[in-house]
Amino acid sequence: MNMVDPQLAPLSNDIKNDVKIDIKDNQFLKDVLQGLSQTNKTLPCKYFYDEKGSQLFEQICELDEYYVTDTEIKLLQNNMSDIAKFIQPNCNIIEPGSGAGIKIQLLLSALDQPKSFTALEISPSALKYSVATIKKKYPALEVNGLLGDFTDQENINKIKGSQGNNNLVFFPGSTIGNFEVDQAITVLKNLSSLAGDGQILIGVDLIKPLNTMLEAYNDKKGITAAFNKNLLHRINSELNGQIEVEQNFKHQSIFNAEKSRIEMHLISKQDHSIKVNGVDFHFKEGESVHTENSHKYSTTSFERLANLAGLKIKQSWYAPNKAFVLFLLEK
Ligand code: AVJ
Repeated sequence: MNMVDPQLAPLSNDIKNDVKIDIKDNQFLKDVLQGLSQTNKTLPCKYFYDEKGSQLFEQICELDEYYVTDTEIKLLQNNMSDIAKFIQPNCNIIEPGSGAGIKIQLLLSALDQPKSFTALEISPSALKYSVATIKKKYPALEVNGLLGDFTDQENINKIKGSQGNNNLVFFPGSTIGNFEVDQAITVLKNLSSLAGDGQILIGVDLIKPLNTMLEAYNDKKGITAAFNKNLLHRINSELNGQIEVEQNFKHQSIFNAEKSRIEMHLISKQDHSIKVNGVDFHFKEGESVHTENSHKYSTTSFERLANLAGLKIKQSWYAPNKAFVLFLLEK
């Protein structure tokens, strides 16, 4: 017999109509209601990363089509001794959006007696795992974990308050690509304020042949599709959502040439309505919810962006065929 713990069973739709989450206390709910109320519906990509979403992201990183992670890890490995020459001994490393904490270990192993590592991560499971792993592997290192969103000024200030000088901010993965120009400048300025007099090591994905980019966000196994749709499943489980995810939505990734970015969308398969915490939203057939941007830069376009944030490129390391680049930035 299949026993279901009533505490763990998902709420039925009848109950979901009665129980309402207080919007005041819930930023996720606020952002979802706001995003779905737009003429062009959107959902913020930072909400991909619950436990399930973080696991799916790690699976994406292992896909043949998703060149980003592999390319960057090889680039780090091949140039690590050169990179390390530019970084002072006893530095304090800060990583906003540290995820599972894989890439940072390459740095930690190469640098001259790094003093501390501070992880700022939105996914509790990823943060717990990475902090525990790194503490164990680097017993001499002071390891701090802060649970939260790196676009939240409060979290930036918290870290700034507790840091000394000789800082290195590590921002790999082309996470900067997820932001539109204005936001990207704000993020870079925040990284710069975290760095103080120190430096930023940032990974940036570069523009490349169309098919390579499209396949990376439309993998054959459908992991990226599951990652994208997980956002709707998350709304169902955390925000009293009543969305028939598989029946009514399909994953789509396109390249927007004008804006030089991959866009992920969830496309409504038919006219239908959904409810989120009691609020109705209507979808027409073919209508999209825009869930993510991944901007693809050239050296010139990224340099312009960095300059707008008051940063200069001190050093660059390119992957073969200029598929990806690591920039060392300073004020
Ligand atoms: C590593 C967060 C930047 O945009 O390429 C992977 C996330 N989205 N596949 C990216 C992602 C779809 C990824 N970031």
